[in-house]
Amino acid sequence: MRGLEQIPLVYDSLMAVMDRLLLGRWRRSLVQEGDGSVLEVGVGTGRTLALHSPTTQVVGLDPDRVVLRTALRRAPGIPLVQARAEALPFREDAFDVVVSSLVFCSVDEPEVGLLEVARVLRPGGSLRMLEHVRPRSRLGGWLARCIQPPWTALTGGCRPDRDTEGTVRSMGFRVDPGTRRSRWILRRFDAVPEGDDVG
Ligand SMILES: C[S@@+](CC[C@H](N)C(=O)[O-])C[C@H]1O[C@@H](n2cnc3c(N)ncnc32)[C@H](O)[C@@H]1O
Repeated sequence: MRGLEQIPLVYDSLMAVMDRLLLGRWRRSLVQEGDGSVLEVGVGTGRTLALHSPTTQVVGLDPDRVVLRTALRRAPGIPLVQARAEALPFREDAFDVVVSSLVFCSVDEPEVGLLEVARVLRPGGSLRMLEHVRPRSRLGGWLARCIQPPWTALTGGCRPDRDTEGTVRSMGFRVDPGTRRSRWILRRFDAVPEGDDVG
């Protein structure tokens, strides 16, 4: 299904405003100096991808070939892979960090994708997420469910009624409370697979 997320000019025009008003600071918190090997899933047009330090070994991934072309222009030199979060083409324990910005609302099978993330993270590695989730209030949740079908069609995959933070927890990740930020429907947190230490 194709929609706004797969039309770089439209997506970037809308997102430039969002980044300036709200998201830019949250995005920058996803990347850190001294990150070792990083997998960024669902890079889209590369708005977060371009923020990684030149010393970080980053690989970007997205299922959509068109957005990957824009990401390549925005972040030249970073290897990009056309693949889905549900079937990551990497060996286990391959990455220190997995970054996801506004992606798991669009992943068809988020539970499978999160299992894959846990598989490719090395012991002690962490998943850094910036996601939007369904509103907490009863009315907000109801509205998110109502607008979901046309919104998903318009955007090309985004589901506004997902409880991504809850899914992350239910798939065996522990959210590091020190990293957790919440504002309206936005969530920013780091999570580690259960059994690993929260850093
Ligand atoms: C809202 S965009 C976010 C793009 C970028 N991360 C950003 O912050 O601007 C969602 C992205 O997730 C990608 N996506 C959709 N399904 C996916 C999947 N199963 N695995 C990985 N990425 C997926 C889409 O192609 C799209 O580029």
